[in-house]
Amino acid sequence: MRALQPGETLRQPQLAATLRRIARQGEAGFYRGPVAAALLRLMEERGGLIRSADLIAYRPQLVQPLAARFRSHPVLSMPPPGGGLTLLQLLGLLEPFDLAASGAGSAVTLHRLTEAMNLAYRDRNTWLGDPASMATPPPDLLDPAYLDQLRQRIDPRRHRPAAAIAAPPSPRRESVNTTHLSVADRHGGLVALTTTLNFAYGNGVTVPGAGFLLNNEMDDFTTAPGVANAFGLVQGEANAISPGRRPLSSMAPTLVFRPDGTPWLATGSPGGSRIITTVAQVLLQRIVWGSNLSTAVAAPRIHSQLWPDRLSLEEGISPDTRALLEAMGHVTQPSAAMGAANSVEVLAPVGRGSLGVVDPRRGRTQAVGE
Ligand code: DON
Repeated sequence: MRALQPGETLRQPQLAATLRRIARQGEAGFYRGPVAAALLRLMEERGGLIRSADLIAYRPQLVQPLAARFRSHPVLSMPPPGGGLTLLQLLGLLEPFDLAASGAGSAVTLHRLTEAMNLAYRDRNTWLGDPASMATPPPDLLDPAYLDQLRQRIDPRRHRPAAAIAAPPSPRRESVNTTHLSVADRHGGLVALTTTLNFAYGNGVTVPGAGFLLNNEMDDFTTAPGVANAFGLVQGEANAISPGRRPLSSMAPTLVFRPDGTPWLATGSPGGSRIITTVAQVLLQRIVWGSNLSTAVAAPRIHSQLWPDRLSLEEGISPDTRALLEAMGHVTQPSAAMGAANSVEVLAPVGRGSLGVVDPRRGRTQAVGE
């Protein structure tokens, strides 16, 4: 075996055959027949948990996007278990701040962003999981009165440490006593349509004969309360592992419309927990600070997710801004590139064409767990 050299073609005939089957037969090309058989064979061989009944019961779920307005723009994004709710909450918290006056990249702006991010992640950690199997439905996290109340908790001059916002979930160990398990029913065969394998190459296992990789999306769940996942997220009971439950995702594919309702731009990103804050900052750059789409995508970004209580700063945030943020109590850390917000914008009037922007960070984004 030798590594492919530049210019050589990677051929994946088994994957091609799988994709051809799906193209010809739709769902049945994957969940039944030779592809399913190959997957089940691998599960048997390697001690995997997926059985034929799981494949037969599995159904993609078509859901309505979440809709909100930001600065008079209608915004559509992915509902739970996707990341759009947290994105819209974050934008809702920021809505009344005069971010145009405080300016892109200023300490005041980044302080507001960070504090709002932390509040939004507190709610994500506390409330969100697969809506089909959440024990306690969340309150209306986008209710304007609720957002007002949350916003009042933002101190304009001082970072609120994570521990002052929510007690850190304490790690819980499995008891050695008899344990009572209550298992949620899995009616509905709920599966989010997604392209993520979570980590590079998923769990590193390819299905022999079918050519596709298996993901390691289990890390998107709360593996145990108080234990951070690979993206550092310390999540809650609502996202605990349970049969048939879908993991909470940060994916936030988002559409924004012009105030008159005509389509305007589409954006989204990889980056695990940084997806939501990446998308938010692209929208802020474009809508509030008037950056063109290229600049909006390229502009240096920050990220905070409550836990760990750290403010990550990409290169390009100025040293004096960092010093001002630290004086406000933020514990900053330099960060490798976060996200890759490949985006497209429809030029007005519709029909004039569109502008696609590739995030210049592509290829040098953060490794998992950093
Ligand atoms: O759905 C999620 O939130 C994660 N599975 C996304 C993982 C991801 O973005 C990895 N790429 N950087």
